Amino acid sequence: MIIRSVIQGVGSYLPEKILTNADLAKKVDTSDEWIVERSGIRERHIAADNEKTSDLAIAAATQALAAAGRDGKDVDLFIVATATPDQTFPATAARVQAALGRPGVPSFDIQAVCSGFVYGVAVADNFMKAGQAKCAVLIGAEVFSRILDWTDRATCVLFGDGAGAVVLGVEEGKGTTGDRGVLSTHLHSDGRHHDMLYCDGGPSTTQTAGYIRMKGKEVFRHAVVNLADAVHEALAANNVSIDDVDWLVPHQANKRILDGTAHKLGLDPAKVIVTVDRHANTSAASIPLALASGVADGRIKPGNLVLMEAMGGGFTWGSALVRM
Ligand code: UT7
Repeated sequence: MIIRSVIQGVGSYLPEKILTNADLAKKVDTSDEWIVERSGIRERHIAADNEKTSDLAIAAATQALAAAGRDGKDVDLFIVATATPDQTFPATAARVQAALGRPGVPSFDIQAVCSGFVYGVAVADNFMKAGQAKCAVLIGAEVFSRILDWTDRATCVLFGDGAGAVVLGVEEGKGTTGDRGVLSTHLHSDGRHHDMLYCDGGPSTTQTAGYIRMKGKEVFRHAVVNLADAVHEALAANNVSIDDVDWLVPHQANKRILDGTAHKLGLDPAKVIVTVDRHANTSAASIPLALASGVADGRIKPGNLVLMEAMGGGFTWGSALVRM
């Protein structure tokens, strides 16, 4: 018998306001045709002026706890993956813990930008396997609209706001791929590429939050290669084939990256959960938002084998194989 961290509930929250491509075409020199053709994005949600990342995170976590049938007071680990925290410190996770949890349990943020949720799955899983947590709330939450340069058409059309959350609980497994829970995680980074996708501000440099800057074409090229590698790594580690995977739940940056990855892997595109058309790129929130969407519409069922993969600034990238 071995310890498995099992996803017991998922939840999500999207701000009410929707910004369409047509709305954006009124602000910058772009068009619905260009955005759809190059990225597959049609619309994105934008947080209200008074909505903070912690508000989105708390809403998503509340839903995930309800789906798991658990109380926030059961939780002994709160993790928020975010690149857009409420404040430089304290961690946004501390706000979530104060709202939902019991005082005294650990809470912290993870900063791996778009790979943050996959990094969070690895961290939570390792805490549980080490016996340091029994019930974790892991949230990906972002308000990227606050770090967009709304005059830069190359970036402002690509991102959106939202949050997704999972509740992970300890269960016993047999140590086989038939077990429910996190089967393996695979994390990578290569900081040599940090100037290909970055925010041009920060506490120790400009003392401002800064704005996103991206060399889109280069990021695209690295993404397709790194994501396929991370998927192969997860399959090999578990001795399963791509045909065994029920659902690919990828980071949602660009529909062409999703299609390119599926093609490279020989995966039926119908097995890819796609939300980029409605959510755009929500960074660390995109995987749990896609997961919640697949669970809510009944596609992702208990027992399904789900492969998550992501790539983001740093570069960071990675994958997680999970049986629901
Ligand atoms: O989440 C982390 C990972 N992020 C990603 O994976 C993003 C990866 N990159 C991409 O998704 C794509 O590279 C983009 C969607 C960002 C851009 O697509 P692209 O096919 O690589 O276009 P491009 O950057 O080569 O731009 C093509 C043209 C340029 O004009 P010229 O130089 O050919 O005259 C741009 O100035 O499109 C122009 N352009 C736009 N035109 C209309 C750039 N942005 C826009 C825009 N509307 N919003």
